[in-house]
Amino acid sequence: AALGEQKILRGTGGETHQVAGGEVPTLTTQVGMPVADDQNSLKAGRRGPTLMEDQHFREKIFHFDHERIPERVVHARGFGAHGYFETYDSLSDITAADLFQRAGEKTEVFVRFSTVAGNKGSADLARDVRGFAVKFYTQQGNWDLVGNNIPVFFIQDAIKFPDLIHAAKQEPDRGFPQAQTAHDNFWDFISLTPESINMALWIMSDRTIPRSFRFMEGFGVHTFRLVNAKGKSTFVKFHWKPKQGLQSVAWNEAVKLNGADPDFHRRDLWDAIKMGDFPEWELGLQLFDQDYADQFDFDVLDATKIIPEEEVPIRIVGRMVLDRCVDNFFAETEQVAFQTGNIVPGIDFTNDPLLQGRNFSYLDTQLKRLGGPNFNHLPVNAPRCPFHHFQQDGHMAFHNPKGRANYEPNSWDSEAGGPREDPEAGFRSFPEEVEGAKGRYRSETFADHYSQARQFYLSQTPVEQGHIADAFTFELSKVETPAIRSRVVSHLLNVDEDLAQKVAEALRLKEMPKAAKPAMPVKSLADS
Ligand code: HEM
Repeated sequence: AALGEQKILRGTGGETHQVAGGEVPTLTTQVGMPVADDQNSLKAGRRGPTLMEDQHFREKIFHFDHERIPERVVHARGFGAHGYFETYDSLSDITAADLFQRAGEKTEVFVRFSTVAGNKGSADLARDVRGFAVKFYTQQGNWDLVGNNIPVFFIQDAIKFPDLIHAAKQEPDRGFPQAQTAHDNFWDFISLTPESINMALWIMSDRTIPRSFRFMEGFGVHTFRLVNAKGKSTFVKFHWKPKQGLQSVAWNEAVKLNGADPDFHRRDLWDAIKMGDFPEWELGLQLFDQDYADQFDFDVLDATKIIPEEEVPIRIVGRMVLDRCVDNFFAETEQVAFQTGNIVPGIDFTNDPLLQGRNFSYLDTQLKRLGGPNFNHLPVNAPRCPFHHFQQDGHMAFHNPKGRANYEPNSWDSEAGGPREDPEAGFRSFPEEVEGAKGRYRSETFADHYSQARQFYLSQTPVEQGHIADAFTFELSKVETPAIRSRVVSHLLNVDEDLAQKVAEALRLKEMPKAAKPAMPVKSLADS
């Protein structure tokens, strides 16, 4: 009913009591008791103290008090939407993954885009990497492709991740900056971690200030494996190509937008979907085998490297359409739990040490963030295919096993005995041979930190190169410690002398530092 038609009673203090009736349901407590008065707590006397026995009041306040859960330790600010993935052609020759078997088949997806460093309430147009996480609800379980909008990463080994993130987030004494990369700690870490220089070039490019989520590419970053029904493995890099094109804003636009509308990216995605202008991405694969991988100058297990598209072209295999906004931001976007460990038969990991570490981290953090071991019972996380297992109990258990058997092997007949293994279709790890002495190694094949940074810089147009130089200048101008500024420039000298010169001059460095000593010779474009 419109406001004027609602049945309203005025209380003795003039307060508004809206009354149920007709199609308007009755307000109840959590356990269904109808509520007569939601405006006044139960008191001893007209002006007396509130009574402990006011269960409705206590329940209402108790629940409110517990509304917040910890924000994600990274990627805290995000925005999600539902949609579907459509397979173009059967890929059964290269993968047994069910979602890639039949041309034209649609698989439901949930996607969450995010910034990395900022807190939940930070602004959308921060210069930052964007998360691009996709959950595919396949007929053989959920597959999460937890990627970013940049194809390389800062570090090669997950053991450095807490340091990277500590350095990127607010400095611990002052609690700022909330979302920007421009500060001493961040550039200190980067300048002392040469493997991050390639990523540093990418984040100083226009990619980190996208016009909207709809105009971003996405990347699985790591090399994964696809495995076919015969057990043959093919290496794969995953790419998302936006049908809308790739667009960014200029830095001065980003700064203004952050002030005028910190929700600019969320609003853009919401509005586009609500208006029926559904954003669309194509999924592309770069496929190669071990022999081919051995020919590269770099290691395909090193997440700071791309595989150049000129060498391994991208094969487009399907499209993803986002066509439905969430009904509830908290229930879906906040509580969704992506995990690199969620893979399905036909897809497998490689030994990329960053990926191996991620496989531990997501499950671990979600146990805390989502309050216990049953977060996969939440609708946004639950599989949409049949599932049966003997896991039980714990906080908020919605799906305990039915019947007598909650263990196996057991003696009960098929139904009462519960689920059984499937040796044919069940997941089996690719039997990669592994041997060697234990040790905290960094392979020498991971040592070239500059060649791809140089290739990336030289692949940019002059305007884009200008933006990169401006971004380094702006960010480093916020760094107070001269030695850190110089150390960053000493790395840029190995990437491109002209870039280093421009930044050094704009920063008015007293003298040009010596180039940082590379761990191995830097290749020119002609060498590669
Ligand atoms: C969250 C991507 C490296 C730990 C995320 C999210 C994305 C992402 C997209 C947000 C997921 C969401 O929307 O809920 C990546 C990429 C990486 C990377 C592409 C490198 C290639 C790492 C590493 C670690 C890590 C090395 C730890 C060893 C986390 C954690 C979260 C997270 C703890 C929060 C998860 C949650 O609370 O649900 N990452 N990440 N990430 N990432 Fe990563």
